[in-house]
Amino acid sequence: MKLYIVENYDELSKKAAEVIAEEIKIKNDIVLGLATGSTPEGMYAELVKMHDNGEIDFSNASTFNLDEYYGLDDEHEQSYHYFMNKHLLKKINIDSKKTNIPSGCTDDVEKVCKEYDEKIEASGGIDLQLLGIGMNGHIGFNEPGNYFVGETHIVNLTEDTLDANARFFETLDDVPKKAITMGMKSILNSKKILLIASGSGKADAMYMALRGPITPKVPASILQLHQNLIVIVDNEAGAKL
Ligand code: F6R
Repeated sequence: MKLYIVENYDELSKKAAEVIAEEIKIKNDIVLGLATGSTPEGMYAELVKMHDNGEIDFSNASTFNLDEYYGLDDEHEQSYHYFMNKHLLKKINIDSKKTNIPSGCTDDVEKVCKEYDEKIEASGGIDLQLLGIGMNGHIGFNEPGNYFVGETHIVNLTEDTLDANARFFETLDDVPKKAITMGMKSILNSKKILLIASGSGKADAMYMALRGPITPKVPASILQLHQNLIVIVDNEAGAKL
């Protein structure tokens, strides 16, 4: 594992964008695994700047997002489709046919999940997977539980996650109770993983993930097994590492 503890959120955003940009420069048909949430917003802004300067080119890249709320359509302002379009995908020269996010609006969840995994596999697998971490140690929406789930699947979001994500919705009741998430197999099969975390609220989760036992009770702890893990945290999130 390579661990970078940087000064603050700005530094984290710049450093994470640099890591991703380097990979795109090495492999222009890169398959990127992407995350949403507050943490990567600054990093996406940096990537957009680099794209605008002509430093990086997304024309041959493809992307697979980790997750989507179940029941929100793509146009919903809190859907992860909307988030990705707003922060990155509509601002760069990527071919929209090469961007993938699980569909949250489906009657056939099983089919959506199966096809998502097949598409990831057909792409040759993810070259670089970006991850944030929940305060409960989740990655994607792989919530704490008694076992790790390998495949893309539907999950019941935990109370912790509903509370944490309520800040994006008018009321707690508006937060979707379920989500579709990439499973641990696609995440761990990624050739490289970049985990980012910011703020004191993530310090315990980061400690449990990297220094605690490997357990499905802290889903991110499984990352300790990955051969090519890069972690970037700011001082607050890294306080216990
Ligand atoms: C989002 C995702 C989640 C978030 C995590 C942290 O696609 O996969 O695991 O990365 O909930 O979210 P923020 O960055 O909002 O603290």
